[in-house]
Amino acid sequence: MRLSSHVVPKLKDPSLFREAAFINGQFVQAKDGKTFDVHDPASTDRIATIPELSVSEVQDAINIARDALKSFRRTLPRERARMLRKWYDLIMENQEDLAALITWENGKPLADARGEVAYAAAFFEWFSEEAPRMYGDNIPASVRENRVVTVKQPIGVCGLITPYACTRCPSSIPGSPTHTICFSKRWNFPAAMITRKIGPALAAGCTIVAKAPEETPLTSLAIAELANRAGIPKGVVNVVTALKNTPEIGKELCTNPIIKKVSFTGSTGVGKLLMQQCSSTLKKLSLELGGNAPFIVFDDADLDKAVSGAITSKFRSSGQTCVCANRIYVQDAVYNEFSKRLAEKVKGFRVGSGYHLENTHGPLIHERAVGKVQDHVEDALKKGGTVLAGGKGLDHLGPNFYEPTVIANMTSDMRIHREETFGPIAALFRFNSENEVVDLANEAEVGLAGYFFSSDIARIWRVAEALEVGMVGANTGLISDVASPFGGVKESGFGREGSKYGIDEYTVIKSITFGGVGELQG
Ligand code: SIN
Repeated sequence: MRLSSHVVPKLKDPSLFREAAFINGQFVQAKDGKTFDVHDPASTDRIATIPELSVSEVQDAINIARDALKSFRRTLPRERARMLRKWYDLIMENQEDLAALITWENGKPLADARGEVAYAAAFFEWFSEEAPRMYGDNIPASVRENRVVTVKQPIGVCGLITPYACTRCPSSIPGSPTHTICFSKRWNFPAAMITRKIGPALAAGCTIVAKAPEETPLTSLAIAELANRAGIPKGVVNVVTALKNTPEIGKELCTNPIIKKVSFTGSTGVGKLLMQQCSSTLKKLSLELGGNAPFIVFDDADLDKAVSGAITSKFRSSGQTCVCANRIYVQDAVYNEFSKRLAEKVKGFRVGSGYHLENTHGPLIHERAVGKVQDHVEDALKKGGTVLAGGKGLDHLGPNFYEPTVIANMTSDMRIHREETFGPIAALFRFNSENEVVDLANEAEVGLAGYFFSSDIARIWRVAEALEVGMVGANTGLISDVASPFGGVKESGFGREGSKYGIDEYTVIKSITFGGVGELQG
């Protein structure tokens, strides 16, 4: 682990760097000239100044999306497919620039950022293929004279909220007495979070107002620039920006009667608040909320594969994804060997600026995130945990860097057991039996992803069925795939993104009954 010099990216196409909101096909500033700053998490330097829109400017954007809906909902699915496909092509043509922006504002290593761009673009490719397949049904009626069919129609204007940061809460820890609803984390995929909502919305014929993540707005604004080049009609896609006004803007998106659907990715606390707000106009909702993923290693597992799965699942984006393993349960007979192998691999990571290709891991997003990681480590050590690798901040690299860490002898009274760390801490718990570990895994109030490694096919079925999560990785630590439904159960929310199901979140089913048809006559 060593200090890397900080870098400012040179874009091949500088016009992708936009310090403005995107409304009605134009990049605009706040009318009152207010702005907020965006910082590079590696250097902490200010890298951009972005408009702080007011609620009334967001209302204007919603009205524009409503006007654009009139003609966009009537476009042929094949026309929408071509637009999305063109947008996909443009994202891939600009992969290097978009990856550079992601690394700049989010900190993840360039190789991961390139991967994210391809993943993000894949949602447009996928939904360009789904648009022409919005089939309805032909339903046998209960009345002889009648015939019943269904059609799927766009739900209308959608509010897409990918972040929700709190600027008031010093700790940003759920349950904090200061302000209990805030823990923002959807700056973690600045490109993919937004495309996996916009893709199905546009495929279905909806128009959108998206709130860009305040820590990482540059990528979404670059993608908005490409919307224009892809020929997406003006007003169909609108990206609003704000920091301080975020709670009020979130409320507007949830209460404005023009908006018919809200899709939110963020914390469970904020999800609950938005759900309350959406009840005032009974909006359709999808919520992708917090996780606390169990990762189970049975004693019949291939340990090398389990170690590599744990590294992928735990340390992807430095532990800052909602599907990252949070509690790693290892069966007694293989506990020591697994811990040793995992710790050796983790000690080999290189932490530093995401722009240096030899670095495997970048910074955390901000000091609040580092603070939470530190608190979790301190709590574990106080209650008997043992550090096998890492365990400290990397202040010589900058305030947002923390060593990838492995802690053994974890117990269920420790905070990591019940709270998502959202950082690079592999916490190892010991267990004895299948029943015991499934009960432990299912103790969480949330249920987004769960992983396990075993070579016993019967056990694989049993455990996959028993885990109370929306997504299971059996013998893999990477489940994110545009083709696979993404979403949770319990307090991880509801609704599915990606896959053949994702478009349903943006449609309504209308039944049409043809009366007086009867039987053949004459
Ligand atoms: C996340 O929502 O944090 C994970 C994103 C993904 O893996 O698709």
